[in-house]
Amino acid sequence: MSERHTATVRAAPAAPCIIVIFGASGDLTKRLLVPALYNLACDGLLPKGCPIVGTSSSDIPTPQFRERLSADIRTFSTRKELDSKVWDQFVLRLYYAQGKFDDPAAYQRLAALLEKLEGEYGTGGNVLFYMAVPPSVFGLISSNLSQAGLTTSARGWRRMIVEKPFGHDFASAKQLNQEILDHWREDQVFRIDHYLGKETVQNILAFRFANGMFEPLWNKHHIDHIQFTVAETVGVENRGRYYDSAGVLRDMIRNHMFQMLTYLCMEPPSSFKPEAVRNEKGKVLDAVRVMTPAEVAANTVRGQYGPARKADNTQVRGYRQEPDVNPQSATETFAGLRLYIDNWRWEGVPIYLRSGKSLWKRGTEILVQFKKAPEVIFRDTPEVDHVEPNQLIFHIQPDQGIELRFSAKNPGPLMSLQKVNMRFDYREAFEASRGTGYELLIYNCMIGDSTLFSRTDLVEAAWRIAQPILDHWATTTPADFPNYDAGTWGPKSAFGLIESDGRKWLEVVSRSVLEQVPLLAGSSPVFLHSLALMLKPKVFASGDFVVRKGEPGHEMYFVARGEVEIVDGDGRVIDMQGVGSFFGEKSLLLSEPRSASVRAKGQTDLYVLERSDFAKVAKDHPAITRLIIEQSKTRYKLDIDPDQFLRVT
Ligand code: NDP
Ligand code: BG6
Repeated sequence: MSERHTATVRAAPAAPCIIVIFGASGDLTKRLLVPALYNLACDGLLPKGCPIVGTSSSDIPTPQFRERLSADIRTFSTRKELDSKVWDQFVLRLYYAQGKFDDPAAYQRLAALLEKLEGEYGTGGNVLFYMAVPPSVFGLISSNLSQAGLTTSARGWRRMIVEKPFGHDFASAKQLNQEILDHWREDQVFRIDHYLGKETVQNILAFRFANGMFEPLWNKHHIDHIQFTVAETVGVENRGRYYDSAGVLRDMIRNHMFQMLTYLCMEPPSSFKPEAVRNEKGKVLDAVRVMTPAEVAANTVRGQYGPARKADNTQVRGYRQEPDVNPQSATETFAGLRLYIDNWRWEGVPIYLRSGKSLWKRGTEILVQFKKAPEVIFRDTPEVDHVEPNQLIFHIQPDQGIELRFSAKNPGPLMSLQKVNMRFDYREAFEASRGTGYELLIYNCMIGDSTLFSRTDLVEAAWRIAQPILDHWATTTPADFPNYDAGTWGPKSAFGLIESDGRKWLEVVSRSVLEQVPLLAGSSPVFLHSLALMLKPKVFASGDFVVRKGEPGHEMYFVARGEVEIVDGDGRVIDMQGVGSFFGEKSLLLSEPRSASVRAKGQTDLYVLERSDFAKVAKDHPAITRLIIEQSKTRYKLDIDPDQFLRVT
């Protein structure tokens, strides 16, 4: 894995064309589109003949437009340093044409400018129109371009990139498709989803179809379930107006997450030609079970973040306190779904999806969990009940790589197993400049490759899955909103959704998190690494009991977020434990029932170390066990001889 590769086949610059950005005074243009076009110029992929025309209602003379973007690029460029030679040439290709999108004269002026630039730059009639505008004007612009005769050219191609969101629901998406297709051919329309511009998402296809060893296992016979997680730490920031009418199902799940789902679950296409790939994506979306209201109630959960104080003591706003959000809003900022794909390959395999804003960490991960190996062969060993399933994890962002978790034999005379992993890290293997994700998409549109863009039927198929969920949700306002604290792992119900099936969300526990636990400070990286693979996340709502006095103790806990109260038999709080502390070890050490109850004070996120894993830690890392025993001596006045305990374990 350590060998570094640079791209061996170099892509060629696209053919000359004019790029017209509708919405050029807006946020998307300065933050993502212009930095992406500049990156393409740096990489030699933007044709020399490529003027870029910005248009919107603001009156900005071209020199001022160039100045503004020259300042913005210094903030938004993804490259370490600005290459002034490339930028100085790039900026001279920027033009601005003021115009209101409902004004036919604006399109006539635009047409005249395009003709002039075509002559100057030799673009041969090729024009790419980019709709970086509110969705309400997508249809208006596409029809006005048609009225002005700009949707076709006798000399070259005309294409249009349409931004998201594509429709607010199934009916409006269908109507928007109709409005666009009244004036454009399907092969001219490029509906964008920036997740498909991410290398790690594209790599799902390379992984599945360039590595023959996985395909025979990629089905219901070998895969137990699949999980998709997109967790964001940011709240809705300044986008309350848009977000309050959208919610996470429309904003994140229906588009970005369904795209990842299609890549992971579709049948192998016959080639990487656009229609071959898109046909397979369509088939898998068509096979996703469309839920009845009762199924929505059973297979979905939703959440909304409330105000909270973070571990660093800063106060975070709740969703209902965000600007431009209705103070009684019922919009979901978190959702968890259990879907089924009713086809031969995936029948009965649950597909879990969860996504939310204002969570405790940012991370997009896909977990493919395989079925367990038969345990029977281990019947005469201590591992008979502890064979773990293999897990394949796609780390999409910010961590970028692929990990395969499997069991290995612990060194020593006994057949004892431990979870270990093999890991491929993008940054170790490849040298690539960081981009915005839009480079690949714009470049593909320029070369006429629509593989990464959605087709009419794909957009509608995704809405067909989402619509019944939205409809059912619209019938009730959840009484418990807000139901998760900002900065936590999301609502408790999300854990219930998967745990009721006897499964657990994958929580990628990083070593740096464990290093914050005082007990573990200074532990060897090998130990922290294996502990990180053992811990399971669990979330508790305020007032929930984590353990109850008298119950058998099957696990111990580390507090990752929040606080717990230790409660005696009379219901009195006798102690508190905060982030980085642990509890529940006494029952494991003594094999005795719990001697006190523990209750979450506020929403609390815990890591659980199960009995079998505790036994492994005890055996393989006696120093940590000694520390736990020492602390328990003080805490509970226990008289355990660490050496004897370790001998027995
Ligand atoms: P902004 O509100 O920042 O920009 C909108 C642009 O459209 C402005 O240039 C505005 O011009 C122009 N505009 C709107 N209505 C008219 C009109 N009637 N006539 C002329 N110009 C008009 O939006 P964003 O840039 O944030 O978003 C644009 C699109 O991109 C949206 O569809 C959004 O969902 C999508 N998107 C945005 C992302 C982002 O990070 N910003 C990420 C992913 C998608 P003026 O101000 O001069 O009137
Ligand atoms: C956008 C959503 O499409 O994707 C945002 O509108 C979200 O709400 C963003 O934050 C996430 O994109 P990324 O690339 O940061 O995962």
